[in-house]
Amino acid sequence: MKFKLAVLPGDGIGPDVLAEGIKNLEAVGKKFGHSFELTHGLIGGVAIDAEGTALSEDTLEMCRSKDAVLFGAVGGPQYDDPTAKVRPEDGLMTIRKGLGLFANIRPVKLFPQLINSTPIKPEIVKGTDFIVIRELTGGLYFGRPKRQWTTTRGRRAVDTMAYSEHEIERIVRVGFELARKRRGKLTSVDKANVLQSSRLWRQVAGEVAKDYPDVKMDNMLVDTCSMRMIQSPTYFDVIVTENTFGDIITDEASTLTGSMGMMPSASIAGVPSSQSRVIGLYEPIHGSAPKYKGQNKANPIATILSVAMMFRYSLSLEKEAAAIENVVDAVLNEGYRTYDIMSDGCTRLGTKEMGDAIVKKIMAQS
Ligand code: IPM
Ligand code: MG
Repeated sequence: MKFKLAVLPGDGIGPDVLAEGIKNLEAVGKKFGHSFELTHGLIGGVAIDAEGTALSEDTLEMCRSKDAVLFGAVGGPQYDDPTAKVRPEDGLMTIRKGLGLFANIRPVKLFPQLINSTPIKPEIVKGTDFIVIRELTGGLYFGRPKRQWTTTRGRRAVDTMAYSEHEIERIVRVGFELARKRRGKLTSVDKANVLQSSRLWRQVAGEVAKDYPDVKMDNMLVDTCSMRMIQSPTYFDVIVTENTFGDIITDEASTLTGSMGMMPSASIAGVPSSQSRVIGLYEPIHGSAPKYKGQNKANPIATILSVAMMFRYSLSLEKEAAAIENVVDAVLNEGYRTYDIMSDGCTRLGTKEMGDAIVKKIMAQS
């Protein structure tokens, strides 16, 4: 089959890791008989420098016409001035909203080979394998009012955490659908003891639960969840939560996998199913790490696993997705590591060499 993809490398190590993602995409294409038409675009700081905006209308329009978007990272110290009119991160907000990517899927899976790369005790972290579904186009990130102003008694600022019933229902459904295909357990995470938006969230989640009698749902407060994730990570199967909570707990969750460099993500515009395709954006959850830019150091595995998620969710090609995931496992088994997951007796590789090692194994698979 032939697919059209948008490629947005962005800033910092974004281009370094995405180059390895593309190599592996092409390898899977060769192996399984698919071809890809790639269209590159600017996002983030590089777009601000070249076009004065973090994501132009034209680039957004280009992305809209594709089957999926591959994304690297955005941001850098030169854009961090809090009074700046445009920020690299705005590009990410624009594309998430513009493509309607309301469901952000972040798998938290510990490859057993990396059990000693996490700061958590092996007996606790062993077997960690859950998914966080983060609502991505609502809540504090997008709610209005959102501004800073000056009063007679000094400066004030406001952000708004707002959710409609519709926004909650569609994301909670994604949670149930995924839980149904896994171990049948969904934890809905909120702060219903304090926040109105969370009380609505909990009500709606309870209502949607009636359509999924085969899934066991529980509600958990976000503070409890952040503790439980470190204390007993194997408790979780699928977590569904609002935008900001999801942002925070997924960085926390990355410590369970040994490195941020191991965590892929998918941001999609509908309930994933094998029958219908949804447009999605695929990116590693780590940021642009400007100090490692161009140094052939960053771990490309999160990006390569994001390519696997693209095969699964946007292209409905499960075999291709699984092939990549199995090869990553095999390469780790052979002791290959980037700096962030390095341990005694292993072979340290740079970004390109790790990408190549994975390509080689994909091509060698029978
Ligand atoms: C993430 C990132 C972004 C977010 C930043 C870069 C705006 O932290 O994808 O988790 O907060 O959503
Ligand atoms: Mg984040």
